[in-house]
Amino acid sequence: MTDAYAQRVRRLTALRGCDTVLSGVRPDSVAEQLATLSAMATDDALPDYYAEGGAVAELERRVAELLGTEAVAFFPSGTMAQQVAMRYGAELTGRTTVGLHPLSHPVLHERDAYAVLGGLRAISTTDAPRNPTAEEVAAVDEPIGTLLLELPLRDVGFVLPSWDELVAVVDAARAGGARVHLDGARLWESTTHLGHSLAEIAGLADSTYVSFYKSLGGHSGAALAGSAELVAYARAWRHRHGGTLFQQWPVALAALAGLTHELPRLAGYVAHARTVATALAGLPGARVFPAPPHTHQFRLWLPHPADALNDANLALAEQEKVWFVGGWRDTEVPGVATAEVTVAGPAAELDAGQVAALGERFLRRLPVD
Ligand SMILES: Cc1ncc(COP(=O)(O)O)c(C=O)c1O
Repeated sequence: MTDAYAQRVRRLTALRGCDTVLSGVRPDSVAEQLATLSAMATDDALPDYYAEGGAVAELERRVAELLGTEAVAFFPSGTMAQQVAMRYGAELTGRTTVGLHPLSHPVLHERDAYAVLGGLRAISTTDAPRNPTAEEVAAVDEPIGTLLLELPLRDVGFVLPSWDELVAVVDAARAGGARVHLDGARLWESTTHLGHSLAEIAGLADSTYVSFYKSLGGHSGAALAGSAELVAYARAWRHRHGGTLFQQWPVALAALAGLTHELPRLAGYVAHARTVATALAGLPGARVFPAPPHTHQFRLWLPHPADALNDANLALAEQEKVWFVGGWRDTEVPGVATAEVTVAGPAAELDAGQVAALGERFLRRLPVD
């Protein structure tokens, strides 16, 4: 067992044992996850085979209905799904360039798979901490095959454009001959800020990827939605990537459970995140971004080193069964750390006063300088 895994298990065990949780959700045990899957398995139908039939087909049908697209292909991961979407854009347009934000997932977290495996080249669309504007895309001085928009842009604080900005940037990309792909790993919780339905948002793009294991709480997995032609192409390339697995019903059932139980709750979490963010912003030296949050997730900064904040959080959890916020990282400003806050089911039980009191209790655990 690596040290990193052992530390993760220690953190998750502490979180699981907490009576009060501000950020995130208590992780389920394997036995609890099996119970969720059993509850979703409603009849004695056979499983899926090679991504056809069974729970995989049902999941693809549900996602196509929600996103209003002609077809959907289930994928084992978003990393794989998006590579296929970008490749399709390159083949259709004859341009191997992809308009990507320097802090987008394919640039930051996928070991340059789009370039190494896909032979594609990234063109930076903007350095600003948000998706590009129509003006920025129009000003790009090389032709782009696919413009990828990450909704919300996670690594700057789960930031969304407004609906009008989104429509304008899509139009600008198309005017330049590009296709538009949405990285909608967290599209599910973006409808409130954008003020439009999932189908209206996906309807703007040529392809959309959604994830089943982030806000929906599934095991893993993704879907690529779009036209029937795109999805036929996606199935062929999924096979080439080794992504057409013999059976995937556990992952598909967990995703269906997320769509059934968690999707309807997300709008409530988004609304409550505003209350939580305001309460946290009142802590000494704290900053939140964006303010108010665009989804149920946002960034929090505190004027303390990350190690001290992580130690305080774990000690509070292990000794008092209270989880504040984990995952602190130092920033380029010495002595200032940042963390992502996720306002989900457990935080829904906490009002503004309780959040502020919890924050004070957490800060009292920090060593005095
Ligand atoms: C915005 C975004 N895009 C894509 C991915 C890739 O998803 P996967 O882990 O399923 O490959 C992630 C995963 O964290 C993500 O946050």
